[in-house]
Amino acid sequence: MSENIIFCWSGTGNCLDMAKNIARELGDTDIVMMRTAPEITDARGAKRVGFVFPCHGGGAPVDFLKYAEDIRVDAMAYKFAVSQSASYAGTGLYELNQRIPLDYWKSVHHQCTCIWLFPHQVMVPPMPAKLAQRLAEKQAKAIAADVRKGARTQKRPPRNPVNVAENKAWPMLVKKHAERFAVSDACIGCGQCAKLCPRGNIRIEHGRAVIGTDCIQCLGCLQYCPQGAISVGSVTDKREHYHNPNITAAELMEKVIHIG
Ligand SMILES: Cc1cc2nc3c(=O)[nH]c(=O)nc-3n(C[C@H](O)[C@H](O)[C@H](O)COP(=O)(O)O)c2cc1C
Repeated sequence: MSENIIFCWSGTGNCLDMAKNIARELGDTDIVMMRTAPEITDARGAKRVGFVFPCHGGGAPVDFLKYAEDIRVDAMAYKFAVSQSASYAGTGLYELNQRIPLDYWKSVHHQCTCIWLFPHQVMVPPMPAKLAQRLAEKQAKAIAADVRKGARTQKRPPRNPVNVAENKAWPMLVKKHAERFAVSDACIGCGQCAKLCPRGNIRIEHGRAVIGTDCIQCLGCLQYCPQGAISVGSVTDKREHYHNPNITAAELMEKVIHIG
């Protein structure tokens, strides 16, 4: 087993990029992807165990906490977590801390890809995508330095009641948006979206993607579509798409990525 394990949920690459940047600094790290049930759940034996995931609808993404339930960690291991969001961490870190008490946690801001709600590339404070990326990379270095020296966060992660309410309403919104996914004539049936979908919610029929309603809003299909053929209703048609510039769709589909 590697010295460090980072469990990572990432829809559009920001969190995987963060996990990889932290891993590069730490060395000898397995990044275990959590888009679907993680291939490794027994992290006993790892010296440091980390979690990197985004804020979705005021909390952790659908399935993240469910998968985290099964993860086994040594009591003596150093446990850390990083939540990325457009503006606020939400309740995800709090919920994770309830299940796996964290020694260290950080909330980091990066570009928002929640394109039906806001204009493209919203972030608070607003900034160009390249600058946001540079800042995230800088923060990854600082987080890795903290983790290396075993820094401890004194405060518990926050639990804002507004985020709790938002997160309660989230499944209903997700369901509503799922019904609005559409595929345009630009689709060439390459099948990348079908392979990328964590729920197996996309199939290729007669050379064209067909999207069902079992969607968790990772937005991987839409943001990584090479043809820009997927939208969530007409509001997203004209909007530029975003995914992390360093992360490919193929990497998001990996189960375990070793960084040595
Ligand atoms: C479906 C969805 C919901 C989101 N909800 C929130 C939110 O409630 N608050 C927030 O600050 N950012 C929110 N974001 C922004 C993401 O947390 C942010 O873009 C993050 O960097 C995405 O990480 P990823 O690229 O690894 O998926 C949301 C993004 C998506 C796609």
